[in-house]
Amino acid sequence: GNRLKLVLVGNSLVGKSSILIQFCDSTFSKNQEATIGVDFRFSNITVNNEEIELQIWDTAGQERFRSITNHYYRNADAIMVVYDITNESSFTQLKNWYSEIVSSAPPQTKVMLVGNKADLENERAVQRERAEKLAMKYGWSYGELSAKTGEGIKESFEILVKETLSV
Ligand code: GTP
Ligand code: MG
Repeated sequence: GNRLKLVLVGNSLVGKSSILIQFCDSTFSKNQEATIGVDFRFSNITVNNEEIELQIWDTAGQERFRSITNHYYRNADAIMVVYDITNESSFTQLKNWYSEIVSSAPPQTKVMLVGNKADLENERAVQRERAEKLAMKYGWSYGELSAKTGEGIKESFEILVKETLSV
């Protein structure tokens, strides 16, 4: 079978661990603990009638772990960059993630930007159009999702895996 390595990156508190747990276990906790260093999970996904084994690395967003997490881009097949649609600075700091990815990940690595916490539409700070424009500028695909409701989670992983397989 086919195996892919995916890495989740983005500022602390944007919901990377929550996305992974919703994807793997279909659960959500409002008391999700901050990740220390890096965690990982395996999960299977079927795309184009093919079963793919995903190894998903969930990195810590806190600054003090950056030297560790940076290492994980190097042999990733795909990267999911997460920001929080209710948090402006998690969006403006995407330029830092872009620089890190450009300098550390192999050039063929597929990257998808996702705006999390779509359930909090009434607290939205970043308009979808703005995020789509930035993703296009960086050559990344774009999606919105909610780790709380599960909306858009499976679809986002499917899009990223399909793009990665079509290299
Ligand atoms: P680090 O591990 O520090 O990098 O943070 P993280 O990006 O893994 O964030 P985490 O998954 O720990 O979530 C941070 C907080 O946001 C937690 O209180 C979650 O319950 C909450 N949260 C995550 N996703 C969502 C979402 O889609 N909607 C809402 N309303 N809250 C969310
Ligand atoms: Mg985490």
